[in-house]
Amino acid sequence: MKISVIADLLVQDTTNVDVEVKGWVRTFRANRFIALNDGSTLKNIQCVVDFENTDEALLKRITTGASVHIKGQLVESQGGGQKVEIQVIDLIILGDADPEEYPIQPKKHSFEFLRENAHLRTRTNTFSAVMRLRSTLSFAIHEYFNKNGFYNMHTPIITASDAEGAGEMFRVSTLDPKNPPLDEKGDVDYSQDFFGRESNLTVSGQLEAETYALSLGKVYTFGPTFRAENSNTSRHLAEFWMIEPEVAFMDINGNMDLAEDFLKYVLNFVLEHNQDDLAFLEQRQIQEDKTKPQAERNEFTLTEKLKFVVGNEFKRITYTEAFDILRNSKPNKKKKFQYVLNEWGADLQSEHERYLVEKHFKCPVILFDYPATIKAFYMRLNEDGKTVRAMDILFPGIGEIVGGSQREERLEVLKEKMAALDIPEEELWWYLDLRKYGTAIHSGFGLGFERLVMFVTGMGNIRDVIPYPRTPQSAEF
Ligand code: 4AD
Ligand code: MG
Repeated sequence: MKISVIADLLVQDTTNVDVEVKGWVRTFRANRFIALNDGSTLKNIQCVVDFENTDEALLKRITTGASVHIKGQLVESQGGGQKVEIQVIDLIILGDADPEEYPIQPKKHSFEFLRENAHLRTRTNTFSAVMRLRSTLSFAIHEYFNKNGFYNMHTPIITASDAEGAGEMFRVSTLDPKNPPLDEKGDVDYSQDFFGRESNLTVSGQLEAETYALSLGKVYTFGPTFRAENSNTSRHLAEFWMIEPEVAFMDINGNMDLAEDFLKYVLNFVLEHNQDDLAFLEQRQIQEDKTKPQAERNEFTLTEKLKFVVGNEFKRITYTEAFDILRNSKPNKKKKFQYVLNEWGADLQSEHERYLVEKHFKCPVILFDYPATIKAFYMRLNEDGKTVRAMDILFPGIGEIVGGSQREERLEVLKEKMAALDIPEEELWWYLDLRKYGTAIHSGFGLGFERLVMFVTGMGNIRDVIPYPRTPQSAEF
């Protein structure tokens, strides 16, 4: 007989039919009630065991974490709480889970403990909900771009260029670390390395995406990116996934419109498709808030927050306007910020971003026209000669979720910028070619996928929204 999926059975109207399910025991109560989960939904199906006619040795093996194959009858449930349940006719243990050893017991585990058991943590409600939402978001992202005429492009993961110019890259090499070949100066001779030059894991697919935008028009890449920045924060990973659309003939205003429309689409999508998971995470957050001091509690519930973002326009202001607001803000004057802002041109820290979003505007904010000195080389210089057409989107509870810009399409201006930053033209000859042959204004942005998943799930630590987080000193699993 066909194995049914629990998500389907729970909404099935026909009862008194034979069914078969396979899944993992969440709990086994009173030697009678199995709460069974197969991952298809947050909800468990109740399977009622006829314990008087079941071998005691078998009953003992029905423990939390064990995998079972159940044959039985789907019937209307006698108890409250569920519409249907399964009267068990036959139960086969597929895999035992020794209760003395199995780490995921039906009690509250700390997220730290579950991180150490990341290979089993999706057997909890919280992590299965988070990862189902992550999957839905990924699908919604592809759907949005597909519906809007974008081509999906696979940008390389190994690269020789540093797109962000921040020098935070992981080297890819097959040289013997104990005995690398040296050149005349005594430096490692990468010409003898696998690729014949120094190569790294990419920090962004943008530069390559630009080449396709200037031929295919509208493209996006959605892939893993790597940053060797030693920031052990709740919002940084060494390996994270980024969505990067790139569009020809689009300026920074079009870029802001696209990013806002895109974010609202994917948020709406999960509101429509993952109601159970969201409702569960919402309750989790409400319970957690009760243990926190008033000031740290969430003002909105999870779904209220998502609906608010979907239903309201993002506030758009320049860096200069934001800087003035921040400089004159109470925490700045009272030196409550860790980084007190004095001079125009200073980079904004996450405390400033969050002040703008959470305290001042109380809605998502798009900041644009940043000082050139704090942004990457490829951003288009404004007529004032000191700001660039950069845009960052700041979200409540997250800070920066999107970073993007209109790109510098003028060959001479780009060359000057590269020279000033000591970026050799030979390394990016192909990038410069785009400005030589049929150049056009174009723009794009990068959305940090894990930051989006954090926002949607309300999880406070980025390590809890990716299956196996890579952070400084940690690459287990
Ligand atoms: O602002 P970033 O560095 O922008 C770029 O890489 C551009 N090339 C994107 C583009 O224009 N195509 O990174 C984009 C986003 C950030 O806003 C943030 O959400 C996320 O990527 N991000 C990280 N997420 C997790 N861990 C990290 N270490 C991250 N660094 C950036
Ligand atoms: Mg950025």
